[in-house]
Amino acid sequence: MRTPTAGVGATAVVVAAARAAENRRADRLFHDPLAERFLAEARKRTPVEAVEVVRHPMEHYFAIRTRYFDDVLRRAVAEGCRQVAVLGAGLDTRAFRLDWPIGTRVFEVDLPEVFAFKEPVVEAAGAEAACARTVVPTDLSADWEAALLRAGFDPGLPTAWLIEGVLCYLPGKADDAVLAGVTRLSAPGSRLAGEHVSHRVFTDPVARPMLDALESVGAPWLSGIDDIGTWLGASGWESATADLTDPAVHHGRITPVDRERIAAGPTRGWIFRAWN
Ligand SMILES: C[S@@+](CC[C@H](N)C(=O)[O-])C[C@H]1O[C@@H](n2cnc3c(N)ncnc32)[C@H](O)[C@@H]1O
Repeated sequence: MRTPTAGVGATAVVVAAARAAENRRADRLFHDPLAERFLAEARKRTPVEAVEVVRHPMEHYFAIRTRYFDDVLRRAVAEGCRQVAVLGAGLDTRAFRLDWPIGTRVFEVDLPEVFAFKEPVVEAAGAEAACARTVVPTDLSADWEAALLRAGFDPGLPTAWLIEGVLCYLPGKADDAVLAGVTRLSAPGSRLAGEHVSHRVFTDPVARPMLDALESVGAPWLSGIDDIGTWLGASGWESATADLTDPAVHHGRITPVDRERIAAGPTRGWIFRAWN
């Protein structure tokens, strides 16, 4: 079993580490026991210091973001989507831990090395998905649409898409290409939720230690978007962005320091949900 502790796959371990920490809290925002298993397996293989440098300043953020997207997906299935596609799924365990309506199918798309690590851990834990779950090992910079269709994705069904913590890792215009692909495969009634960073983050001294740590594990951020609403709107999506300083969103997890970082100047990143 290979461990994705270098390259973009390492970032999946970072998020799993934050979810494992959240899972240990009495007032946790979600229950994710598999996150502990992923972290334990990754730690057996490679030191994860760089991973920890990234996790610490972002821990609350990852927990809030996870819960936010859990709620968005719950709403999407309540509104009728029975097909869910998680792009850059990493060590996401929503297929196992959310209460999916009968007939829901979840596709997880990520690089082959991520699933080479993830699937044996899931199997060893004896975890059973709460929906039909299909993994699609492929590269989002290549022809991922064909791979998804071959795996049984039905473009005639309204789909709930999730692209959490992924777009900034894609090179060049690959983020545009992913959005174009999502749009092509989205039947009316589809939903899209995700996250992107703004260009400002690349020159922001507060973000520099994290960006350096990511570069040191071979996972630099490569792209950003300055106005997410315009970007989504140009492809026909109506959208709303989430403000993490909103108490309805942060569940009391934002510290004064987090609040200062988030509120200082123009946004560093976008959390969005959209509908077609
Ligand atoms: C920060 S992790 C987020 C994982 C997951 N969405 C979550 O929130 O737990 C970024 C993920 O994007 C995946 N990724 C980055 N570039 C990719 C590409 N070109 N093709 C497929 N997956 C990619 C990585 O392998 C990694 O799992």
